[in-house]
Amino acid sequence: MNIPDSITIITGASRGIGCSLSKLLIEKGGKVAGFARDEGRLQEVREELGESFLPVICPVGDLDAVQSSIKTVLETWGKIDALINNAGIGHFGAIDELGKEEWDEMISTNITGTFHCIREVVPHLKEQGQGHIINVASIAGLVGNPNLGGYNASKFAVRGLGDALFQELRNDGIKVTTIYPGSVQTTFSSIRRRSPTKNKLTPDEVAEVIVHCLERSDNFLIDTVVLRPLKPNG
Ligand SMILES: NC(=O)c1ccc[n+]([C@@H]2O[C@H](COP(=O)([O-])OP(=O)(O)OC[C@H]3O[C@@H](n4cnc5c(N)ncnc54)[C@H](OP(=O)(O)O)[C@@H]3O)[C@@H](O)[C@H]2O)c1
Repeated sequence: MNIPDSITIITGASRGIGCSLSKLLIEKGGKVAGFARDEGRLQEVREELGESFLPVICPVGDLDAVQSSIKTVLETWGKIDALINNAGIGHFGAIDELGKEEWDEMISTNITGTFHCIREVVPHLKEQGQGHIINVASIAGLVGNPNLGGYNASKFAVRGLGDALFQELRNDGIKVTTIYPGSVQTTFSSIRRRSPTKNKLTPDEVAEVIVHCLERSDNFLIDTVVLRPLKPNG
């Protein structure tokens, strides 16, 4: 993808990895529609990044909200080149202590939200004959961990969806990439994890890798990237 003049939807753009990625794409001349729920944070990002950042209030677990948000992007900018499914939430704890609401929130955001955005964007990408979908999973989508069962389940599902879609969409000219980060220095991990990793990746480092995937030439697909701190505990 040629980033200057490109249009990218990033879910979870109000903070963390999504916010860093929005900044990097805009610095390189792209435009970003940032989906999230926190209107105040989205407006702060807009103030920082300017008119190339379109703030869109969109809880991704709500299909109606996703449909109207994607309509807003198309009415504003006329096309979509890339979709980054990055919105995510984690509740950690023993399975017999994990609340049903916590389970539902992870499934709704991490996998159903990803499905909603892909379902609504793919017809436009097929019409264009090109596009790139990047799903931000987690190393927790590759290996299970005690006290992470619900989060593991949601991210393993992202992995399955991505593996299927990479094959389903490649002949339409649509790239599908799944990113599996280890611990990243964001509010996500600092608030919720019980034993935080000392040496985390930064959100800017993850954003750089995503941009690298986006910038490859049309026939060059990076389908899977695993990122981890080399010495997580120092
Ligand atoms: N941090 C890590 O260690 C780590 C490691 C591996 C993978 N990941 C994954 O990386 C992704 C980004 O995480 P992060 O570390 O940048 O976390 P973060 O700083 O907590 O950001 C999460 C983003 O997701 C948005 N979000 C949450 N629920 C949403 C919903 N229902 N609808 C729309 N937006 C929603 C949040 O915005 P609002 O609250 O404004 O809605 C926020 O912008 C997640 O998918 C996470 O699972 C993180």
